[in-house]
Amino acid sequence: MLSKTFVLLAALSTVYGAALQPRVTCATGQTTANAACCALFPVLEDIQTNMFAGDTCSDAAHTALRVAFHDAIGFSNSDPSFGTGADGSIFIFGETELGFGANLGIADAFNLEVPFINKHNISVADFIQFAAAVSLTKCPGILQPSFMFGRIDATFNAPDGTVPEPFQAVDAILARMSDAGLSAAETVALLASHSIAGADDVDPTKDGLPFDSTPSVFDTQFFVETQLRGTLFPGSGGNQGEVESPIAGELRLQSDSELARDSATACLWQANVNNQAHMAQAFQAAFAKMQTLGQTGNNLVDCSDVIPAPPPISAAAAQAFFPPGLTQNDVEQACATTPFPNLPSAPGAAATVPQIVQDPATDGSCDDDGTGCIIAGFTG
Ligand code: HEM
Repeated sequence: MLSKTFVLLAALSTVYGAALQPRVTCATGQTTANAACCALFPVLEDIQTNMFAGDTCSDAAHTALRVAFHDAIGFSNSDPSFGTGADGSIFIFGETELGFGANLGIADAFNLEVPFINKHNISVADFIQFAAAVSLTKCPGILQPSFMFGRIDATFNAPDGTVPEPFQAVDAILARMSDAGLSAAETVALLASHSIAGADDVDPTKDGLPFDSTPSVFDTQFFVETQLRGTLFPGSGGNQGEVESPIAGELRLQSDSELARDSATACLWQANVNNQAHMAQAFQAAFAKMQTLGQTGNNLVDCSDVIPAPPPISAAAAQAFFPPGLTQNDVEQACATTPFPNLPSAPGAAATVPQIVQDPATDGSCDDDGTGCIIAGFTG
């Protein structure tokens, strides 16, 4: 009898292994799978209350997301001098890295996050990736982000050239991403982040210019709208890294335009159109990989259960559409094997997409050229 019970329990623990794991109750009252994760709850509460206060997938969330990429991509499988990946170097060596052209605007993230980094005793590297995972949970359409904990902070800066630029050719962008361990498919998957994004610095005359018409929803509109014929600029126009967009108020990056049209990536790009589940799943997997670049040897602990649940997206919001006044005729078909999906056109007259309202906490002593970007008081 005893051995039958044992066999049954062993079988159950194989099938429901995760569920049978004992959970830890933290001093702050929450439960989690691993005691090490308890350190994250005070950080979570603080950033939810004070850093992302009231943010509904807007400027603070976008800012926290972008810096996670710029930190992590400082890594190479072929050249150790490129950095140790998601290692916090972008802030720790802010006076150097934030002066690089590709990091223009990342000073906003430094100003937003460093007051919180200085208050909490987790690594800078973990804080950046944790804040990014939490930022995603502000955005309807995101699938539950994971979070691995235990990154080691950088001891040297990443050099200039690790972060792709919007004026680089597709080959160069894909080569850099591949060198860091990310395939073309993973690069396209990660670029779903531009569905919840905009540009503050590409056009020096305007900030908060969104990359799609729904910058606070993680939907597939970005992949629709980047495939439409460009006809106008949202501001001064003709800036380096910018090409014409199809809708007033929207900014199109040259890199996104070319990735949507290059034979290496066009079908990967189009596969996201009106396929919310595919886009969200591919992003979830690629983002998890990106967040641990260069750090996988560090005995990371799975603290995914600390990350709050993201808001769901309704079926209506997940339905892709052509913006008012535009139709299938405006599609610049680039995928050679599959026709662009049929989509409805949104009713009404063509409208201007509003600028993304800027969070005042992104202004501070850290300037775009890197001056003043020093972490003070961080105790590691
Ligand atoms: C691979 C090539 C990529 C290029 C060339 C690129 C380029 C850019 C540029 C030029 C901006 C506008 C910056 C500004 O003027 O404020 C931007 C914004 C942004 N990017 Fe990317 N990006 C790339 C990939 C990624 C990835 C992989 C992520 C995240 C996983 C990401 C997340 C964002 C976000 C969230 C913003 C908006 C930031 C804000 O509104 O404050 N990008 N990107």
